[in-house]
Amino acid sequence: MAETNTKRPIFSQEETSYELKVPYLKKLFRFLLPYRKWLFLTIIFMFIATVADLVSPYLLKKAVDDFIPKKDFKGILAIGVLLVLTLFINKECSKNKIKLANRTGQMVLFDIRKALFDHVQSLSFSYFDRNSTGRIIVRIVNDVNTLNNLFTNGIVNVITDMSSLVLATVIMFSIHPKLAAVTFTVVPLFLAILFATRNAIKKNWRKVRRKIANLNAYIHENISGIRVIQAFVRQKVNKAIFKDVIDDVFVSWMKAIKINNLFGPFVEICSMIGTLIIYWYGVKLLKINGVTVGTLIAFVSYLDRFWRPVVTLSNFYNQLLVASSSSERIFEVLSIEPEIKEDENPVDLSTFKDTIEFKNVWFSYKDENYVLKDISFKVKKGQMIALVGATGSGKTTIVNLLARFYDPQKGSILIDGIDLRKISFRSLRKLIGIVQQEPFLFSGTILDNILYGRPNASLDEAVEVCKFLGAHEFISQLEDGYYTQVNERGTRLSTGQKQLICLARLLLQNPEILILDEATSALDTQSELMVQSALNKVMKNRTSIVIAHRLSTIRDADLIIVLDKGQIVEMGTHDSLVSKKGVYYELCTSQIRFVKAG
Ligand SMILES: Nc1ncnc2c1ncn2[C@@H]1O[C@H](COP(=O)(O)OP(=O)(O)OP(=O)(O)O)[C@@H](O)[C@H]1O
Ligand SMILES: [Mg+2]
Repeated sequence: MAETNTKRPIFSQEETSYELKVPYLKKLFRFLLPYRKWLFLTIIFMFIATVADLVSPYLLKKAVDDFIPKKDFKGILAIGVLLVLTLFINKECSKNKIKLANRTGQMVLFDIRKALFDHVQSLSFSYFDRNSTGRIIVRIVNDVNTLNNLFTNGIVNVITDMSSLVLATVIMFSIHPKLAAVTFTVVPLFLAILFATRNAIKKNWRKVRRKIANLNAYIHENISGIRVIQAFVRQKVNKAIFKDVIDDVFVSWMKAIKINNLFGPFVEICSMIGTLIIYWYGVKLLKINGVTVGTLIAFVSYLDRFWRPVVTLSNFYNQLLVASSSSERIFEVLSIEPEIKEDENPVDLSTFKDTIEFKNVWFSYKDENYVLKDISFKVKKGQMIALVGATGSGKTTIVNLLARFYDPQKGSILIDGIDLRKISFRSLRKLIGIVQQEPFLFSGTILDNILYGRPNASLDEAVEVCKFLGAHEFISQLEDGYYTQVNERGTRLSTGQKQLICLARLLLQNPEILILDEATSALDTQSELMVQSALNKVMKNRTSIVIAHRLSTIRDADLIIVLDKGQIVEMGTHDSLVSKKGVYYELCTSQIRFVKAG
C-alpha cells in the first residue's frame, strides 16, 4: 500500500485548498437570495422548535421545586400537559423546518448546477482543449454535490444550534449565575484542545479528498478507454492498480475518521465533567443561595443543550471549508469568459454570394507555437477545394478557423469581404456545415438525430433526405426504423451508417458551405463507396472544402492546397500539380505504391 506506485499512470490531481475563502462563500450565498423568503420561514420554524425545546427543563424545575413538594396534582397535571405540548410543537416545527430547508437547498443546487452547465456550454473550444471531460463532469456533479450538505442542513442547523447554545447559556446564567460560571470552567479546556487538533483533522480530510479525486479520474479513464484496455488485455494490470487506488482511499479515510471520531467522545467528556461539577458544587449550594433540586435538574438538561450543538458546529466548520474549496472551483469556471465572442453589432449573412478568403492568417493553439503560418487562399462560390498534407500539417486547424471555433492571432478570414468576427453566430452556423472526422450521434432515436439541426422538420422531410443519400434502405430495415434508439456513441451502427446519418442531419440544415474532414478515412472500401456517393450528391451545387487522405477522391477539385508544417507549399489543380513533380506528386506516387503493395 505504498504512497506512490511507479506502475500507476499520472493523474491530473486536484489540489484542494483548505483555507476558508470568504469572498467565494459570499458569492455562494448570493445564490440563496432568491429564496430568502423560504429561508426566513425556515428560520422561524427552527426558532420556535428551539424555544419549545428549551422550555421543558424549566417546566421540570417548576414541577420538582413547587408542585411535587406541595403535592399539587393539578399543577403537576398542567406541567405534564405543557410538556406534551412543547414536545408536539418542537416536533412539528422541526419537521417543517427540515422539509423547507431541503426544498430551499435543492433549489439552490439546481440553480448553481444550471448556471454551470449553461456557462460551460457557452465556452469556446480552447476551454475543452485544456480541460478533460472527466474534470468538467466533476465540476458540474461532484463540486455541486459537496454543497448539498451545506445548503440542505448545514446553514439551518447551524442557526438552530447557535441559538440553542446561546439561549441555554443565557438561561443558565439567569437562573443561577454562580453555578453557571463554575459549570463553564471546562470550556477553555475544550477550546484549547479544539485548536490543537484542528489542523490534524483538516490535513487528513484534505488527503481523503485528494484520494477520492484520484479514484474518480481513474474510473473515468478506464471506462472511456475500455476498448483500448480490452484490446491490449490490460484488465489484470488495471485491476491491480485500481485495488491500490481504492486501498489508498480506504486507508486515508480510516485515518481521518479515527481522528475525527475522537472529537465526539471528547465533547461528551467535557459535558460529563460539567454535569459532575453541577452535582458536586450544586449539592454544596443546595438550600443556600437559592439552589433547589429543580435547579440542578434544569441545569443538567440545559448543559446537554449546550454541548450537543458543539459537535454539529464543528462539523459545520468542516462543511464550510469543503464548500469554500468547491465554490472556488465552481466560480473559477463561471468566471471564464468564452474566447470566441459574438460581435456587439453582428452582421447577418443570409446567403453566401461570392468568395471565402484567408488573408495572411497566423494561428497557434498555445503561446507562440504557430501551427498555421501566413496562410492565404481564396475559394469561389461553387468550387471544391481540397486540403492535403502530412498528419499534423494543419488541415483540421484551417477548417476549425473557418468555422470560427478559434480566432486567428494575425490576419483575417473573410466571407464575401466581411470578417468572420463580424458575422453573427446564427448566420455563420447556418451557412457552414461540417462533417467531422468521427461521426457523433446523441442518445435518442435516429430521427431525433437527423432532426437535430432543424427540430421542426417533418418525418417526410427526413425520409426524403435519407432516400436521396441512400440511407433510407438500411434505416427502414432496423427493427424500429427511424425510431430506433441509438446511444450516444451510436454503437450498433457501423461507422459508415453513422456517417450517413450525420450527413442527413447536415443536409436537412442545408448549409451553403460544406466542410468535410476526412469523412471517409475510417471506412472500409464498401462503406466508403456508399458514403462517397452520398457526399458527391451533397456537394453538388455547394461550395466545399474537403480534407482527404485518399487523393483519388479529390482529383476533380478546382483547387488543391498542399500544406507542410503549417505553410502552403503548393497550390493548383491535380493535373498542374502532377506535372510540377513537387510535393503533391510525391504524395500521389507514394500512395499508388502503397496501394499496389497492399
Ligand atoms: N486542440 C489543440 N491544442 C493544441 N495543439 C493542437 C490542437 N489541435 C491540433 N494541434 C496541433 O496543431 C498542429 C496541426 O494539427 P491539425 O489537427 O490541424 O493537423 P491535421 O493536418 O488535421 O492532421 P491529421 O491529418 O492528422 O488530421 C499539430 O501539430 C497538432 O499537434
Ligand atoms: Mg485532421
